[in-house]
Amino acid sequence: MKKKILVSRQYPRAGISLLEKENFLLTIWEKQRPMTQDELIEQAKTHHALMCTLTDKIDNHFLEQCGHLDIISQFAVGYDNIDVEMATSLGIPVGFTPDAMSEATADIAFGLMIAVARKMFFLHKAIIKGQWGYFNPTGNLGIELKNKTLGIFGLGRIGVKMAQRCKNAYDMDIIYHNRTRNKDAEKLLNASYVEFDDLLLQSDVLSVHCALTPTTKEIFNRSAFKKMKPSAIFINTARGPIHHEKDLTHAIQEGDIWGTGLDVTNPEPMQPDNPLLSMENACILPHVGSGTIEARNQMSVLAAMNIIEFYNSRQIPHIVNPEVLKQ
Ligand code: DGY
Repeated sequence: MKKKILVSRQYPRAGISLLEKENFLLTIWEKQRPMTQDELIEQAKTHHALMCTLTDKIDNHFLEQCGHLDIISQFAVGYDNIDVEMATSLGIPVGFTPDAMSEATADIAFGLMIAVARKMFFLHKAIIKGQWGYFNPTGNLGIELKNKTLGIFGLGRIGVKMAQRCKNAYDMDIIYHNRTRNKDAEKLLNASYVEFDDLLLQSDVLSVHCALTPTTKEIFNRSAFKKMKPSAIFINTARGPIHHEKDLTHAIQEGDIWGTGLDVTNPEPMQPDNPLLSMENACILPHVGSGTIEARNQMSVLAAMNIIEFYNSRQIPHIVNPEVLKQ
């Protein structure tokens, strides 16, 4: 019997054409908007496998009704939209797409850092409003990044790429905080492991690259921002709920930190009247870290290959819960 794959969005053709070449029956959700959870459940009930992404809620409620799925293949490196513990208890393997977007996301973190240091988004908006005025010797001043200290929260694949960019461009010193030490990265970057509080105290730029977990949820809150330097830049390209957005806004308004660059917000989408959008030292993007043609094609290929390999050989090249395949 042909396996039926539910494809929850219009993912790049690179991966979809691989699935089409195999003996699968694909149902592709053609609308631009994601499926509601009810629509997703309704569709998934009649399929064997699901290719999904961060806008699909694969929680307890979904899994109670779709426990028959052979595999869930996530098009993303983050999978906080999936209740992995429950999927594991149901014996459902969860695939994901690590590393495909590391360069792209590090570019966005690096770009946001410079944009915040030089107030780029704010100045761009000022031109649109007809407020260019005259060259001002003491106006619109930013800060420089040369020889500053970069603090990475979550020195994994993407964090390393961000650190490399900062080291090469600005000879920045690298410090980091992780659950477990990354000795290879320490050697590669001459990076020092520090406790979380020291990361807050010492970083000139603090860039977040960890996963969203109960431990990291809103770890960047009022008390964390209070410990940071008034000249510090806070960058988050990982997941919005890792920072407390009202506390972040307050920290900039009060001068506790210099500013922020966010590719992820809490909640998403950010509402157009959010005060961060009109601040001089805040640069916000709509979750586009992985948004390059190269990265999205590769993500699509990896997500498709996870399904193909699973049905062909019971292997999943990139799996979140490998214990399921050993059962
Ligand atoms: C990811 O992969 O987790 C990004 O946030 C979306 O591409």
